[in-house]
Amino acid sequence: MAATKQEAEVHLGEGLVHVGKLRFGRDRGRQHSEFSYGPDWIADGRAFALAPDLPLGLAPFFASSGRSGDPRDSLTGPFQDAAPDAWGRMLMERLHGAGLSEFDMLTLTDDATRQGALRFCDGQGQVITGSADPIPRLIDLETLRGIAARIERRGEVSNAALRQMAGAGGSIGGARPKANVLDDGQLWIAKFSSATDASPVERIEVATLHLARAVGLNAPEARLVLETTDSPIALIRRFDRDGPARIPYISARTALERRGTEQGAYTEIAQFIRQHSDDPCADLVELWMRIVFTVLVTNTDDHLKNHGFIYAGAGQWSLSPLFDVNPQPERHRQLKTAILEGAPFAASIDMAIEAAVFFGLRQGDALHRAGVMARRIRDLWPGLMRRHGLREGDLDQLEPAFAHQEMEKALAM
Ligand SMILES: Nc1ncnc2c1ncn2[C@@H]1O[C@H](COP(=O)(O)OP(=O)(O)OP(=O)(O)O)[C@@H](O)[C@H]1O
Ligand SMILES: [Mg+2]
Repeated sequence: MAATKQEAEVHLGEGLVHVGKLRFGRDRGRQHSEFSYGPDWIADGRAFALAPDLPLGLAPFFASSGRSGDPRDSLTGPFQDAAPDAWGRMLMERLHGAGLSEFDMLTLTDDATRQGALRFCDGQGQVITGSADPIPRLIDLETLRGIAARIERRGEVSNAALRQMAGAGGSIGGARPKANVLDDGQLWIAKFSSATDASPVERIEVATLHLARAVGLNAPEARLVLETTDSPIALIRRFDRDGPARIPYISARTALERRGTEQGAYTEIAQFIRQHSDDPCADLVELWMRIVFTVLVTNTDDHLKNHGFIYAGAGQWSLSPLFDVNPQPERHRQLKTAILEGAPFAASIDMAIEAAVFFGLRQGDALHRAGVMARRIRDLWPGLMRRHGLREGDLDQLEPAFAHQEMEKALAM
């Protein structure tokens, strides 16, 4: 393959404020990029660094797929966070064919629904976007659900339907089938039930977000639509949008400057909070409470892209609302993010208590909070699950996620 070069002007937010330039190259197998802030952005009173490893300054930042072998690492963290993930990449490849560069993946996703506030323009100042279709509305969801199901089954899908799906759902990350919808001027994520689900995953996801709210965690508004059908859809409010306003977003993976499949620890996220949060005390307690919640409801998919930060102004970042927390009754009790740096990845309530000091909590306070949370979860989970349509058989199947040794320990605290 001949060496290729691509470039885009990088802008931010609804007002398309110019922040810099992204240059991209592909040479044989290797993909690489260069990002530089523009002098106009550096001189702007609103300027901030897009990520901790991209400090404001005129020197360019380089990234390359060479080191990890993962093409996604040809973009620096905040650009990776704005690019599609497994579901979106599959849609893009079905629509545009194989052989897309990471630059294509990033810029050809729908501009209106792209994660965070980054936007890309061509040399003529025109916004680059892979989709001309309007953002779907609630009434379009049933059609989209049908298309998503056909795509998952690798069935026949027209090009128009593929384009509609890629526009609606290609931008947002994650592996599960999803789309974006606009309701009352606000953007929401629609997560579809998957043909491979062995349990009512979307019912459980919405109920778990309600459970998180009930124990005092910061979880986004969520509800089910097409609730009485076999494939209900979870509707979750986008926290990187406030009406038309776009709020910059970085994953915890970007906050911790990780590459490839490198993992991390909650105490490292705590360190980022201490240095960059607009309200470190509140964010530290919130994160610690999320660890306890994760252990108690047996959420085992707490990888660094399932935690994130939204821009809080004045160069500071606040912990994003919680997302993608799913009780897993049949899994090993093993986390994807270690509680303590250097410690095993065990989902251990004792380790959470031991770590509390790194989150500004005294042991006595931590024990009390864990006990209160455990009792609330024990009392509320079956009712919340039933209210979201789970049947008695589903509850029996789910119970091991809520009734386990770590829960017993916490209930006694
Ligand atoms: N409420 C929200 N507002 C804005 N962005 C969100 C929200 N919920 C999730 N996201 C973003 O969308 C991505 C995908 O969502 P989510 O993690 O829920 O999907 P998933 O397909 O279940 O993921 P995974 O592949 O981790 O199982 C997240 O990584 C996050 O960047
Ligand atoms: Mg996820």
